[in-house]
Amino acid sequence: MQTIIEPFRIKSVEPIYFNTKEERTVILEKAFYNPFQIPARDVLIDLLTDSGTSAMSSAQWAAIMLGDESYAGSTSFFKFESAVKNIMGFPIVIPTHQGRAAEKILFTILGGKGKYFLSNTLFDTTRANIEFSGAEGIDLLCAAGKLPSVPAPFKGNMDIDALKNKIQELGANNIPMVIMTITNNSGGGQPVSVENIKAASAVCKENKIPFFIDACRFSENAYFIKKREAGYADKTIAEIVAEVFSYADGCTMSAKKDSFANIGGFLAMHDKELATQCRNLLIITEGFTTYGGLAGRDLEAIAVGLYEVMEESYLQYRIRSMEYLTEKLIAAGVPVMQPAGGHAVYLDAKAFLPHIPLHQFPGQALVCALYEEGGIRSVEIGSLMFGKYDADNQFVPAQMELVRLAVPRRVYTQSHIDYVSEVIINVFNNRNEIKGLEITEETPLLRHFTAKLKPVK
Ligand code: F0G
Repeated sequence: MQTIIEPFRIKSVEPIYFNTKEERTVILEKAFYNPFQIPARDVLIDLLTDSGTSAMSSAQWAAIMLGDESYAGSTSFFKFESAVKNIMGFPIVIPTHQGRAAEKILFTILGGKGKYFLSNTLFDTTRANIEFSGAEGIDLLCAAGKLPSVPAPFKGNMDIDALKNKIQELGANNIPMVIMTITNNSGGGQPVSVENIKAASAVCKENKIPFFIDACRFSENAYFIKKREAGYADKTIAEIVAEVFSYADGCTMSAKKDSFANIGGFLAMHDKELATQCRNLLIITEGFTTYGGLAGRDLEAIAVGLYEVMEESYLQYRIRSMEYLTEKLIAAGVPVMQPAGGHAVYLDAKAFLPHIPLHQFPGQALVCALYEEGGIRSVEIGSLMFGKYDADNQFVPAQMELVRLAVPRRVYTQSHIDYVSEVIINVFNNRNEIKGLEITEETPLLRHFTAKLKPVK
């Protein structure tokens, strides 16, 4: 196969500041073995998140200069609104400053005690906003999605029988919304098929439950559909995207992902009454209805980025980058989630470090080892993030111990990815030297952001 090259040239660059392993050992100790506490300048390759970290195109930077900063009815808003309407087909578009702001508004209106939100898998902020309202979030991921090492084409799919059963059990009246996350971030960045979206939508329609899409990575998901689902090979990404959203009553979106923007988000829908309630809340929390917490220039960048992110040469390069890294790791025997996700590569820390017990956070230990060895910053999605204590204060581990290496869009080249694979393989070959960690300080909510740790003696 011919090398798939980056479909862009580089016009503007940012320096990477090199440091030594000895320096990183000290930096890590000062950060209490929590990479969220490491200054970005001390990171060589930053794979903490793909959110808000994209490189914007020259067309986006040019659009930024056209930003209309009028408080009401800015020209930039109408460009943004028209892009969302054109691409996703929803008549009502409400800007927010990022994805979780859209979630906060939606679930404040629809949530509350005794309500249930069903999903393939809710992302952490989505779940947190649902729970903060007093409601409960329930994940109904298909069986294939729960097996990291077994490949399947659509591991992000919802279990449709489980959806039907849950609606029966809880009563449609107590379910204000079903949410499909595309791609499924917390489950390895795995895609959802059109067939599955259509089936979930039909079940919702029968039961008069609104069906929304968490659309953060809608374009990556559409590319997987084109490549893997029968009948879609000859369709354009725009056609697939339009079909996907045609089955939904609305969506929440973080423009920090599949829009190449550094900030932004929106809510889009058909329901006028719900939109009125959302806008009322928007005005007291985010801002007026035509800017929603964003500058006019941000709306411009999103309007351009939404189209660019659907370009096939970009998507081919994007998805291939994840496959390329995953293939190198598999060849070296590194345990990794299969197949590769759309925006990230997920290491299976439980299999990588079997000598570290779960209460000593193998995922976080691996995150620290990758930083110390090669200055790579990743994030633990395991027991530090999701672990709990039961009523007797006993440790309850998370379902999986994953380390996510999320790749910012259009930022790193193939040699950066080669370097990442070399560091991971090096760490893997010396894995027996890695020690577990213990927590010295933690908060009751979302502790992984601020927790302090130290190596176990
Ligand atoms: N939904 C999904 C599926 C996400 O991945 C995120 C953010 C959000 C909603 C919230 O959007 O950050 O704009 O408020 N994910 C980032 C990540 C933070 O690192 O995966 P936001």
